[in-house]
Amino acid sequence: MKLAIGNDHVAIEMKNEIKAHLESRGIEVINVGTDEPGSFDYAISGYKVAKMVAAGEVDGGVLICGTGVGISLAANKVKGIRACVCSEPFTAKLSKQHNNSNIIAFGARVVGVELAKMIVDEWVDAEFQGGRHERRVNMIMEIEATQRLAAVDER
Ligand code: RB5
Repeated sequence: MKLAIGNDHVAIEMKNEIKAHLESRGIEVINVGTDEPGSFDYAISGYKVAKMVAAGEVDGGVLICGTGVGISLAANKVKGIRACVCSEPFTAKLSKQHNNSNIIAFGARVVGVELAKMIVDEWVDAEFQGGRHERRVNMIMEIEATQRLAAVDER
């Protein structure tokens, strides 16, 4: 498995901890985030990781800013991206199983490093379950592609 990881200035230490943790599990991690102490706009890392995921260059992405919100909002503007902010492992797991999330995000100001490791572990180990969930994810992709939803607009 190969993942991309990105962060802003708030999350450098957390990024390094999570990268090392994933690597200790045998996962290749490509760091496209900042490693400089100066202020860094989270949208840059969100966009970089999202483009790599959308292009299929990596199997998924991890994004960390102060809350996980700004960086995931930026990533979600890239077509094909489903970036989910998760502050606990249960939602992280179900975001993959039910929503086929391809990026996990969290906040370095919100969760501690041990909880962050559990969040990424549950997400990495989970698999999309398909079935009824596939229909719902397809609806999300339909909205993204057309700015319409037939189930609503064509009733
Ligand atoms: C940076 O101060 C902070 O706004 C950023 O890390 C993140 O929390 C934004 O969503």
